[in-house]
Amino acid sequence: MPNVLIIGCGKIGTAVGRVLSQQGHPVVGTARSPESLQRIAEAGFTPKALDLDRETPLKGLPTQGVQLFYFAPPPGGGDIDSRMRHVLANLLQTGLPSRIVYISTSGVYGDCQGEVVDETRTPNPQTARGKRRWDAEKALQIFAREHSVDVIILRVTGIYGPGRLPIQRVRDRQPVLRVDEARYTNRIHTSDLVSVCLAAMKKGKPGQVYNVCDGQESTMTDYFNAIADAYGIPRPPQVSLEEARKVMSPLMLTYVQESRRLSNRKMLEELGVSLLYPTLAEGIRSCIEAPAR
Ligand SMILES: NC(=O)c1ccc[n+]([C@@H]2O[C@H](COP(=O)([O-])OP(=O)(O)OC[C@H]3O[C@@H](n4cnc5c(N)ncnc54)[C@H](OP(=O)(O)O)[C@@H]3O)[C@@H](O)[C@H]2O)c1
Repeated sequence: MPNVLIIGCGKIGTAVGRVLSQQGHPVVGTARSPESLQRIAEAGFTPKALDLDRETPLKGLPTQGVQLFYFAPPPGGGDIDSRMRHVLANLLQTGLPSRIVYISTSGVYGDCQGEVVDETRTPNPQTARGKRRWDAEKALQIFAREHSVDVIILRVTGIYGPGRLPIQRVRDRQPVLRVDEARYTNRIHTSDLVSVCLAAMKKGKPGQVYNVCDGQESTMTDYFNAIADAYGIPRPPQVSLEEARKVMSPLMLTYVQESRRLSNRKMLEELGVSLLYPTLAEGIRSCIEAPAR
């Protein structure tokens, strides 16, 4: 019987599942698209098709006593994560997992005006995307308390790594904020995120939240400039925040307008993770050297 279930087994889930499967765990990973299901099979564990927008998505899946990684995003609209709610309601029928690790986002903190943010800060999401994640976190914490299931929440910052750098955006010369107006943001390399997910399942304290980032202070402008420099592309044009409001996509604007410097002290101390890529320079070098998986 599988003892690991990865719901929302996309790029990060597949990498987590590959490690656990190689360690001898029977792993099931769920996704919707044929491409994702094929990637899971190629990684050496069992794919299952699953649509979280259905009322009874977990029917037929092993959930009793499993280690559950929940990596699926909320749906595209509204302030509620209906997918998480479907899953939690279903688990009462199909069997309770022993532990759940959930990937949330640092977006739940909202704009913190450049302050250093640790996990004691009260979330104050301002975007609908952040509100849906905060809804999922709250629903999970209530579920955990009511049913004595260990839940660990990871508030993950911008993910980058081999095969997932915005190189085309830089080539297209899409603008970034002027250096003197750029806001703080954080990132995590895919390899380090995978280690954090595994460590959270093993060592995360029940009910606890962990910020997940490399700990390097930087901005989106630094990020795009570093990619341009590494790939020998001209740096993107810079615009003021006022101009950005006219020329940037609404999604990109939500990213560049919020400012936070996340502390990763709790992640390093309690999960005992040694980061392979504590700086963007080291991480980008790995993207040039390593093929995407
Ligand atoms: N990108 C970032 O910088 C960032 C930052 C913080 C957190 N995150 C979050 O981190 C998590 C893991 O990231 P990732 O890169 O592994 O994401 P990903 O590759 O997009 O994987 C997400 C998975 O969820 C599945 N999924 C989506 N909607 C579903 C639905 N309605 N029913 C069933 N399955 C559904 C997808 O299936 P299909 O592939 O078949 O569609 C995919 O397997 C995601 O929740 C992501 O939003 C991302």
